[in-house]
Amino acid sequence: MLLRLLLVANVGWLALVAGQNEIPTVPCYGPDCLVTEPTTEMTTLPTTESTTTPRPAGIRRTVVVIFKATTIGQDMFIQGGVNKETVRPSCTSDVNAETSDCSISINATSLGTGPHWAKYDAWREGDTKLDWFGVQPGQGIYETYVAYGTPLAWTTNAPGENGYQQLNTWGPNNWMVDLQMNCDETENGWFDVKAYLTLSGNGYESDIQQSTCTGTGADVPPPYTSNKNHVARCGYINRFYFGTGDCEINAFQ
Ligand SMILES: *[C@@H]1O[C@H](CO)[C@@H](O)[C@H](O)[C@H]1NC(C)=O
Repeated sequence: MLLRLLLVANVGWLALVAGQNEIPTVPCYGPDCLVTEPTTEMTTLPTTESTTTPRPAGIRRTVVVIFKATTIGQDMFIQGGVNKETVRPSCTSDVNAETSDCSISINATSLGTGPHWAKYDAWREGDTKLDWFGVQPGQGIYETYVAYGTPLAWTTNAPGENGYQQLNTWGPNNWMVDLQMNCDETENGWFDVKAYLTLSGNGYESDIQQSTCTGTGADVPPPYTSNKNHVARCGYINRFYFGTGDCEINAFQ
């Protein structure tokens, strides 16, 4: 009895943490179980999809990587959201990350454990939006250092080294953020990214004229062009180079 209850509780918990798009299944019926009959199917999956554009819906894992060889003490952030030059100029006068129409809801998730990730872990706390405003009210602080946007962490592809990250198939100096992103708030599945590097001029990378990207997620072009920022795809692994238009977009394996 106790064991079965624990099992049920466990399955329920797994379904909870598995994300909002999963259909929880509770394979336990009868008097010992918390659930007796499957009464109504939980159908929370989106039922209407556009037939023309492969638009990702709902909250999707989305990774942004910025390649830049940096020096010790420098930190990388991204600002961004819906493009405000051509797509949604009404955002230009917005002042607040939480209410701006160009902000996109996110949670940055863990990239690893240990001191290497301490800054990333501090700054991703309370960072609920990818936005154009830098630090968010209530966003985490590392020691006395405030964030300049959504934090990225320095990663390498060398197992055993500080900053090793499995998603990194390239090498050292690939700054990364692993996001849960609400694709419904993007422009048809796409969003702008601007990198900000501390201890480097005014911080912002120069304006970007993005090239045609390589990779399995570059099968369709972005629905707009930006004359300032990188254009990234929600639900994919997006890799950019600091200050240049080169890019790679890959689907998750
Ligand atoms: C972020 O996490 C909070 C708390 O768990 C949740 O309410 C929210 O829906 C999440 N947002 C995204 C975009 O994943």
